[in-house]
Amino acid sequence: MAPRLILVSNRVNIPDSKGPRQAGGLTVAVNAALKQREGVWFGWSGKVSEDGAIPTPTIVHRRMRTYVTLDLSATDFQEYYNGFANRVLWPILHYRVDLAEFNAGDLGGYLRVNAHFADALSPLITPEDTIWVHDYHLLPLARELRARGHQNPIGFFLHIPCPPPDILEALPQHWQTMGALSHYDLVGLQTVQDAENLGRYFAIQGSESKRAPGMFEIDGRRVTVASFPVSIATAIYARAARNAVRSGMVGELRDSLGGKRLILGVDRLDYSKGIPHRIQAFGHFLDKYPEWLGKVTFLQVTPKSRVEVPEYAAMNQEINALVGQINGRHGDAAWTPIRYVNRSYTRAALAGLYRTAQVALVTPLRDGMNLVAKEYVAAQDPEDPGVLVLSQFAGAAQELDGAVIVNPHEPEGMAEAIKTALDMPLDDRKARQHRMFAHLAANDIDRWAERFLTALGESREQPGLLKGLRQLFAQRA
Ligand code: UDP
Ligand code: G6P
Repeated sequence: MAPRLILVSNRVNIPDSKGPRQAGGLTVAVNAALKQREGVWFGWSGKVSEDGAIPTPTIVHRRMRTYVTLDLSATDFQEYYNGFANRVLWPILHYRVDLAEFNAGDLGGYLRVNAHFADALSPLITPEDTIWVHDYHLLPLARELRARGHQNPIGFFLHIPCPPPDILEALPQHWQTMGALSHYDLVGLQTVQDAENLGRYFAIQGSESKRAPGMFEIDGRRVTVASFPVSIATAIYARAARNAVRSGMVGELRDSLGGKRLILGVDRLDYSKGIPHRIQAFGHFLDKYPEWLGKVTFLQVTPKSRVEVPEYAAMNQEINALVGQINGRHGDAAWTPIRYVNRSYTRAALAGLYRTAQVALVTPLRDGMNLVAKEYVAAQDPEDPGVLVLSQFAGAAQELDGAVIVNPHEPEGMAEAIKTALDMPLDDRKARQHRMFAHLAANDIDRWAERFLTALGESREQPGLLKGLRQLFAQRA
């Protein structure tokens, strides 16, 4: 059998399948990484079954790919997904120790689901396969697979931030989860800062840094830590945006704006995205620059996310109240300053929205990368591009040097940035977009996957394995 790439993530996105569309950077990146490779994508089906039901994997074949999914029991869903992954790991890794709600039962559920995943995946693995695990739901999966005897190269990519060691140490029993990353051959992070934070954590926990920067030896195992900033399918996105402007939806939006400028925000409903701060900043902007009243509309697209986690449920009310206040204070019969929508859009529809907007506000309080920022840049008309206003705390800020960089905790500074963006002369906009687009064209999602998989092969330094990986690349058209 040809060597395969086995991708594992909590969320699996089966193309053309029924069910709600899932927003989120991971599915976009993993889907693209599997493109034109023979592979398996393994993870949760998105369905919850009754406790006590024996989970049997569902297998779906689509072209070169096989999708293997498992349901979660109601208890597993609660303890593993809603509990430990999204009420402990998510807030702590986003520097929000104050929001973490730990209990030992949830940690137990998290470890149990990782063991279930390993049990279900184990019979599918052949010795030639390369395994690539994604994101914070599955930190201990390599440890579980190694315990079942698999010696395959296993890589891990963390899509969200990695904070400094003193924050990681606030995670109860952190060596069970963050420490379990030492069972991978390669751990990839979004930015150099994230990789340095994880390296310092390993060093503080007593691992030795070996031979090369980023290489650690822990209890006789060797793990390499490095940054691999995730990206987008830049050329494809740009083409989709060119086509999307002719769509009926974009035409209707344009008509509804009646010549007003459009400012756009696109984020899952998540406290890490800084949506209330952004709305307040837009309110400050209207207060300070009344000449813009009636001339600009802010569209915030916010699909709901993790609705059973209490911190998420509370957010929508807070945002609706803020939007109501600002629309009440500044709006009139003919103009609503802020349009807030909770629905999710297809990739093509979003590309059209990006290209129509003169300004994008991407202002998370903390974000691993933020693909919306990259998609916005790729979607612009190079002859009349819009301006990206970007938080210094998004991983994307390390790369997108043509953005107007803001501190999302400073509403007045953000209000100024909105003004700067709206007033920016065409030459300046073109130069910034050209520079950022060139960077994204040279560093797209295909290159991300290749860089990671090559580094995974090198981390093992086994000639046979490198041959296998070369074969894997050779399968691509
Ligand atoms: N997205 C989408 N439809 C929507 C909103 C978002 O397809 O209505 C996609 C968006 O194009 C992007 C991803 O969801 O690719 C969000 O990724 P990002 O890295 O910005 O944030 P995340 O949600 O992963 O934290
Ligand atoms: C972020 C995370 C992903 C997650 C996505 C959507 O992108 O990094 O792991 O899949 O958000 O969140 P959800 O909880 O709906 O999978």
